[in-house]
Amino acid sequence: MLIGVIRETHPGETRVAATPATVRQLLGLGYEVVVEAGAGALSSFADEAYVEAGARVGSAAEAWGAEVVFGVNGPTIAEVDRLRPGTTVAGLLAPAQSPELLAALAAHGVTALAMDAVPRISRAQSLDVLSSMANIAGYRAVIEAAHHFGRFFTGQVTAAGKVPPAKVLVAGAGVAGLAAIGAASSLGAIVRATDPRPEVADQVKSLGGEYLPVVVPAEEQQVSSDGYAKATSQAYDAAAARLYSDQAADVDIVITTALIPGRPAPRLVTAADVAAMRSGSVVVDMAAAQGGNVEGSVAGQVVTTPGGVTIIGYTDLAGRLPAQASQLYGTNLVNLMKLLTPGKDGVLVLDFEDVVQRGLTVTHAGPDGGEVLWPPPPVQVSAAPATAVTPVEAKPAKPSMSAATKLGLVVAGLVIFFFVNATAPDPIPQHFTVLMLSIVIGYYVIGKVAHALHTPLMSVTNAISGVIVVGALLQVGHDNHAIQALAGVAILLASINVFGGFAVTRRMLAMFGSSTTAKGN
Ligand code: NAI
Repeated sequence: MLIGVIRETHPGETRVAATPATVRQLLGLGYEVVVEAGAGALSSFADEAYVEAGARVGSAAEAWGAEVVFGVNGPTIAEVDRLRPGTTVAGLLAPAQSPELLAALAAHGVTALAMDAVPRISRAQSLDVLSSMANIAGYRAVIEAAHHFGRFFTGQVTAAGKVPPAKVLVAGAGVAGLAAIGAASSLGAIVRATDPRPEVADQVKSLGGEYLPVVVPAEEQQVSSDGYAKATSQAYDAAAARLYSDQAADVDIVITTALIPGRPAPRLVTAADVAAMRSGSVVVDMAAAQGGNVEGSVAGQVVTTPGGVTIIGYTDLAGRLPAQASQLYGTNLVNLMKLLTPGKDGVLVLDFEDVVQRGLTVTHAGPDGGEVLWPPPPVQVSAAPATAVTPVEAKPAKPSMSAATKLGLVVAGLVIFFFVNATAPDPIPQHFTVLMLSIVIGYYVIGKVAHALHTPLMSVTNAISGVIVVGALLQVGHDNHAIQALAGVAILLASINVFGGFAVTRRMLAMFGSSTTAKGN
């Protein structure tokens, strides 16, 4: 089948639905690709790069007339006639807000795949355009804030004086919020974040931020069973309002990303909070397009308050990194096509038994004309166990051992220790003592290592496993069969750790490699 990649017609759109790298992957699935001339110009992908990748560069009519049409924004109602009946079109169609467009697509006999309707389940993560775009947008929100902020993010001590680090508050720790926390803390700022879902506290911490809980009674706490927040209670909103007022007076940058699917954006930061911020402070309202989390933000614009606070309401943050956004969007589409091309033969097959495919198909061209399939049946997802209630104030609960159990374990350990030392022949007592001490030290040292440092820690355990392999190799020739067997098991387990560690490290390095070396990506 022929895939057509259109040149975006939406005003201000900079992205393109396929890059030279994703074109190669589509060809690998057995498709042919025609790219409308100039489609990648605004995201720095020249027509020649597409040709080099194996695509044909053609006219608008050829791209729109293909059997499968890829776009970022999808067609407008006026553009539906440019598609051939029977075509499959994929793009960001906003199906909930576009009933007329869906009706027009169905009437024209088009199958429409809404990339913004992918269910948020682990299996569909590789197609989740909203997440990949929110990730870029969260990063870019920090860059925009830094651009408008007249100071460093990082603290410095210079000959000309001391510079304090900037303080950043991120409201909402979903995909965009976490990306913003990571970007701001890597620029050196002090980052705080809040979210009604207490289960995000660990993620905030692992990215270098401090989680600020909103303290409410236990019955008002929120537990997400599907990865999305529910509307917050009045008690929560009142407590959160106090938190925002306190923080606004203290921080330099506020980035708001709060979203409750299917509802207008919750209003978090009031005009009074903004007025309490120091002159020169910056607020980025990522939810400006959905009505705004911040009073006074204007969708698509930058406004400066009389108090000198800049409020950024850009709605195209992902498109402000067009090459990166196109690459990730294009990869989401490639992953979609992998799902829809089971035979890898360039033939698109839709299977409505699959909740992912059913969820994103919003119109379907059947033999008797097209039908609208929106909204899809609800998908049962479980991003977190529905029953896992974590108190908002408490740290994530670990079942703690009772004092009696602890004492019992210590006594048992001591008894075993003295028994082995008293009865075992030399040199077992020595080795046993070293083993016991290393278990105790290892428990306390490793237990204190931050999540972010687990990868280097893994390298250390690899080195230890290497020592174990050497020791076991020396023992494997021993006359005693029990020792031989133990040495064999030690070699096997330690080798799994060594080779597994190398494989994981290699994969991680490859991830960095492809993002930094991808010339035309
Ligand atoms: P998400 O669903 O992953 O995260 C939203 C977060 O907001 C969740 O963690 C949720 O718990 C939290 N939240 C809900 N109610 C809250 C409240 N009252 N107070 C604090 N936090 C609350 O959504 P995602 O993908 O991170 O997107 C965030 C926002 O950014 C959305 O409004 C989205 O439309 C917008 N966005 C804006 C872009 C732009 O260019 N301006 C680009 C991409 C996304």
